[in-house]
Amino acid sequence: MVIGDENFSPGEGSSVNGFNRRNFLRTASAVSAGTLLAPGLHALGAAQDEPAKPIAANDHIQIALIGAGGQGQYDTKTAVQVPGVKLVAVADCYNGRLERAKEIWGPDTVTTRDYNEILTRKDIDAVIIGTPDHWHMKASVDAMKAGKDVYCEKPMIHLYSDGPEMIETSKKTGRILQVGSQRVSSVIYAKAKELLASGAIGQLNMVTARWDRNSSIGAWNYTVPPDASTETCDWPRFEGTAPHIPFNAEHFFQWRKWKAYGSGVAGDLFVHLFSGTHFITGSHGPTRGMATGGLRFWKDGRDAPDVMLGLFDYGEGFNLSLRVNFVDGGEESEGLIFTGSEGTMEIGGGWVSVNRVPRETDPGLSIDTFPLAMQREIERDYRKKYPETHPAGAPPVGYQKFVAPAGYSDSFDHFTNFFRSVRSRQPVVEDAVFGFRAAGAALLSNLSMERGTIAHWDPDAMKLV
Ligand SMILES: NC(=O)c1ccc[n+]([C@@H]2O[C@H](COP(=O)([O-])OP(=O)(O)OC[C@H]3O[C@@H](n4cnc5c(N)ncnc54)[C@H](O)[C@@H]3O)[C@@H](O)[C@H]2O)c1
Repeated sequence: MVIGDENFSPGEGSSVNGFNRRNFLRTASAVSAGTLLAPGLHALGAAQDEPAKPIAANDHIQIALIGAGGQGQYDTKTAVQVPGVKLVAVADCYNGRLERAKEIWGPDTVTTRDYNEILTRKDIDAVIIGTPDHWHMKASVDAMKAGKDVYCEKPMIHLYSDGPEMIETSKKTGRILQVGSQRVSSVIYAKAKELLASGAIGQLNMVTARWDRNSSIGAWNYTVPPDASTETCDWPRFEGTAPHIPFNAEHFFQWRKWKAYGSGVAGDLFVHLFSGTHFITGSHGPTRGMATGGLRFWKDGRDAPDVMLGLFDYGEGFNLSLRVNFVDGGEESEGLIFTGSEGTMEIGGGWVSVNRVPRETDPGLSIDTFPLAMQREIERDYRKKYPETHPAGAPPVGYQKFVAPAGYSDSFDHFTNFFRSVRSRQPVVEDAVFGFRAAGAALLSNLSMERGTIAHWDPDAMKLV
């Protein structure tokens, strides 16, 4: 399990380990130059595979990181690979992470426990927010009000009331807010969107998606550092508006396990599957959802379930079913299957495939409960009307698989898109409205489980009904 990126499962051909801009360009061009591919297998070019234009030192976008844990550090390492982007400052509530920031980005990196010190600086254009979920709204709103553009990690919201406030602040301040569901910038998801729109699988009727894990780290049991204490951790600043309890190192470093800070598997993982589904289908979201599940294995004091299943209705005429299982007893796996009237489209780690099997045109017979003489008579008449064309069943009419270049990183593309908008002031690929629709849909699952009822949602107005 790779911490700090929920992008693609390791070992599925699209690992982001060891990614850097140089090997990204090299692998991208190696594939587009004509790697040998099996029939039906197609290599996708990288979306941002363009020569980097030199950017003058005084034209750099200067950024700061707020929340320098696993994802914040990963995001920032990726962001500074985009030409013309420079990290200036880092805020975090744990001394060890501020120390680590200086090790990674140099001793001149400004570090602080208080992100407000960063927001008052004039030399910072944009911030990356990698805090736990319960800080996303406050840190984003404070940053936008201070004139900074924001890249806020998913899920955009922790509470439903966060959504309108973030959308409004972005509108009022004219600041850019991009949410960090990197799939929205992925070449794989762009290809899937194109395939669906072109009718590759006919009329969509169902999407099934899963995100299964089978490890302690996968179940959020992140390492608590040996020096964790009220000296090294700024507990009040971490707690923020969460209900107050005495310092608890597990809550600080494994916050996903408690609803006070995280949003459960729905906010952590369902949200990626919603973002992907909404991007590919163009839908605004489900009208209703119900979920069930429970704490099946990791009974370690957490209050968030480790198994969750959700079912959702979309006004466009399809259903979505989602599953997260942290005790799946086998291989960790993640993926989506789009089922249509003419075939299926599957997305895995770094690839998308389409399988088209023609529906039988004959109506078929179910006659073996009838007297034998009658069966023969029906068969005779049937074969006259429908001559046998495929004795062994209809052959598949088409399997195609599209693969991203080895080492491809959709996070890099997501940051490239973000910084392009920061420069151009043009809309981002995943704005606050998109982010709220994805997270709002995901959190219906928690609501449904808490209430034991179906949760209703107006995806256009972005309101619970
Ligand atoms: N896009 C993805 O694939 C992806 C992957 C992992 C995590 N995430 C998201 O990134 C966020 C962070 O997750 P993580 O795994 O990095 O958590 P983490 O615990 O490793 O890091 C969070 C950091 O935020 C700091 N923090 C807490 N409150 C703060 C405050 N008020 N000011 C400044 N810093 C504060 C903590 O000290 C901690 O170092 C989460 O919202 C998570 O959902 C996204």
